[in-house]
Amino acid sequence: MAGLSPRIYCTLALFLSSWTAVYAEITVYSQRPLGQAANTASGAAATNTAAAAYDTTVLNPPPLPDPLPATQFGVQLQNSAANVQGLSIPMSGAFWGFSIEMSVANQVLGRNATFIQVPFLNLMSNLAERAGYVRVRVGGNTQDFATLSDDLPDGKLLQKENVNNTNPTQTPGIRFTSQLLYMMSNISSLTNVRWYLGIPLNETANLRLQIAEVGEPILGDNLLGWQIGNEPDLYLRHLHRDPGYGPFNYFGEFGDVKNALGSSAAVNKLIGPSVGSGDWSPEQVWDTNFIPQYQANLGALSVEKYPDDNCFALYGTGHKVVYQDVFANYLTHDGPKSFIQPFLNSTAIAQTFNKPFIMFETNTASCGGFPGVSNSFGSALWALDYGFQMAYSNFSSALLHVGGQNVFYNPFTPPPTSQSTFHEWTIGPVYYSTLIIAEAFGKSNQSRIIDLNTNNGDAHTPGYAIYDGDKPSKVALFNFMTDPSGANDYTANINIGGSQLGQPNGTPAQVKVKYLAAPSVAEKFNITWGGQTFGEHFASDGRIKGSMQIQTVTCDQTANTCAIKVPAPGFALVFLTDDPATSSDATPATFSTTALTKTVNTALADPTEVATSNGHSGKTFEKFRSTSKGSVPNGSVSKRTTGTDVFAVGAAVALALVSL
Ligand SMILES: *[C@@H]1O[C@H](CO)[C@@H](O)[C@H](O)[C@H]1NC(C)=O
Ligand SMILES: *[C@@H]1O[C@H](CO)[C@@H](O)[C@H](O)[C@H]1NC(C)=O
Ligand SMILES: *[C@@H]1O[C@H](CO)[C@@H](O)[C@H](O)[C@H]1NC(C)=O
Ligand SMILES: *[C@@H]1O[C@H](CO)[C@@H](O)[C@H](O)[C@H]1NC(C)=O
Ligand SMILES: *[C@@H]1O[C@H](CO)[C@@H](O)[C@H](O)[C@H]1NC(C)=O
Ligand SMILES: *[C@@H]1O[C@H](CO)[C@@H](O)[C@H](O)[C@H]1NC(C)=O
Ligand SMILES: *[C@@H]1O[C@H](CO)[C@@H](O)[C@H](O)[C@H]1NC(C)=O
Ligand SMILES: *[C@@H]1O[C@H](CO)[C@@H](O)[C@H](O)[C@H]1NC(C)=O
Ligand SMILES: *[C@@H]1O[C@H](CO)[C@@H](O)[C@H](O)[C@H]1NC(C)=O
Repeated sequence: MAGLSPRIYCTLALFLSSWTAVYAEITVYSQRPLGQAANTASGAAATNTAAAAYDTTVLNPPPLPDPLPATQFGVQLQNSAANVQGLSIPMSGAFWGFSIEMSVANQVLGRNATFIQVPFLNLMSNLAERAGYVRVRVGGNTQDFATLSDDLPDGKLLQKENVNNTNPTQTPGIRFTSQLLYMMSNISSLTNVRWYLGIPLNETANLRLQIAEVGEPILGDNLLGWQIGNEPDLYLRHLHRDPGYGPFNYFGEFGDVKNALGSSAAVNKLIGPSVGSGDWSPEQVWDTNFIPQYQANLGALSVEKYPDDNCFALYGTGHKVVYQDVFANYLTHDGPKSFIQPFLNSTAIAQTFNKPFIMFETNTASCGGFPGVSNSFGSALWALDYGFQMAYSNFSSALLHVGGQNVFYNPFTPPPTSQSTFHEWTIGPVYYSTLIIAEAFGKSNQSRIIDLNTNNGDAHTPGYAIYDGDKPSKVALFNFMTDPSGANDYTANINIGGSQLGQPNGTPAQVKVKYLAAPSVAEKFNITWGGQTFGEHFASDGRIKGSMQIQTVTCDQTANTCAIKVPAPGFALVFLTDDPATSSDATPATFSTTALTKTVNTALADPTEVATSNGHSGKTFEKFRSTSKGSVPNGSVSKRTTGTDVFAVGAAVALALVSL
């Protein structure tokens, strides 16, 4: 634990032993390869000395369930959403967004307002072109200790303060300049990212509102909301409040911030209470009259929670996790269902007040995630099912947490500072899930989803239907099993309408299918979405590579069925309509990192990719081509692109590939 003094380490160890069942995120601020201390107890776990973000542990796929689920089953859809009981509220394709720990914003977003990470722009652009925009939060534990400064040495936009913090998470103080906010604004103008920030709440008697005062005019409509308090139900345990601190105290502090903001633009987009990981249930906060009291000020209600934690590996205390054993928890539909169940009362309450309900920070497991789990194909299936399940449960949005080099679960990781001139980014399996949900819900803001309880509710073969407006638009089918023999591939026979429902047959002549595929749930790199991939460690400039493969399935219109095969493991997204409402109308930008190592780095956009890199349904499929100029990714990616297919985004913003 380089960087942690033995004294603080001991305090931590003693302290943490008392809250092992608490699944809050603890961002580790000192660099240490998690995989080393962690006991990878099973599977083909390799000894690994790299930073957690580049962990190479490969577990064994969990054994097949006994009894095995049926490999043929029907999926009945209605002709009209009006006939469907239990559809969710309308969803945005921007459902899955990201939560970026404030202390790593200078690694992930960029160095300053004119020096922005091009791979980050591409990763956001991929989503914006599918969903219309992307939601990104810059915050976390560090937001409560952040201070806006006029200036920092060497033109830095962010700096950790080496204060001798006594709090158990050793949360550093952060100083940042308005450059951070200008950088965010410039990112929004390049690709449609909309932001959440937080107002520091470590001292309510001495509020630091400067971030809102300065941030509102810079970010304007691209500022979605201000989080007031990050996991206040953990403040006491983290020694940030005096004994006795409870939901009513938080209620009061929320009011203090509201009053201090006066009539500022920020005052009507506050977000709270962001509990769920710690000691308070959301209901305890609702019971303070929180929502009616602040109804006019609340932009959204929020919770934060991780399904498990790896704090034992970090701090040597708490519940010890055998990674091989927990892997199966992420490979069943029951996991997300039971995890979300405690929030159903709250999502219903949020609806009665017409407030969005957001999972403000989550991922596979707090304290960095699990090697071999958080970075496997299984985690991509999990994040897809979890996302769809939250949507079906009337969450409006959810943010996947992005830590630094020292976590296993990152959706994307910039290369370590020392290697950024020759290595590219590493894209985690869960990033694919965000892309797929963006495609599934699209841009209409009218997609509603239902859990189909497929295969008699079998936990290994779940499925969902999405209705766009009144019409069935997509079917999402999962197979969590791994069986290379093919014996546990299944076929779902989709019916739309039909005489058995007293409806006309609604099954189309053909449907299009895109697969999320890998040979095993344990796979780390050979992951494809519609045949395209982000490749291995250090392999990505943020663009998905390879030729897009879309399967066309001819349906049996006499029998009124479309037979969709789903391999074990795998996920299929079935596009039922050619409805142009889901097609791309915006002009997506793709930013090409054409820089050669150690030469001038200039951000470039490829105009041809504007037309070819989207991922929508129906008529637009014909236009799809490879986004990589015919080349599949190879190792750590050629840095050279041809001069003819790139041009500068325009003179206004001179971007550069960041070398941290
Ligand atoms: C932005 O960062 C780059 C790289 O560190 C540096 O060359 C440039 O001068 C900085 N620009 C400003 C305005 O600070
Ligand atoms: C932090 O603690 C160390 C050792 O107790 C001390 O030497 C140092 O001056 C302290 N730093 C600050 C910024 O207080
Ligand atoms: C709150 O955070 C600021 C900025 O890091 C720090 O200066 C201050 O001492 C903190 N206050 C408490 C009570 O921790
Ligand atoms: C981009 O950053 C520059 C430098 O800080 C700033 O002057 C400019 O206003 C920013 N542009 C936008 C659109 O925010
Ligand atoms: C839902 O939450 C409200 C507000 O806290 C509470 O009064 C009610 O009992 C809860 N209902 C259930 C079913 O938990
Ligand atoms: C989601 O909200 C809709 C509309 O209010 C409701 O019909 C449905 O039952 C809710 N779903 C869940 C899982 O609570
Ligand atoms: C969907 O909602 C977003 C966010 O409010 C908005 O920007 C967009 O214009 C909406 N799209 C449609 C088609 O209404
Ligand atoms: C990659 O995975 C696919 C299945 O998704 C498999 O067909 C292919 O052989 C695998 N390729 C390699 C190089 O392992
Ligand atoms: C991949 O890269 C290696 C090493 O640079 C090279 O030998 C090989 O030909 C490349 N393969 C393709 C398909 O480009």
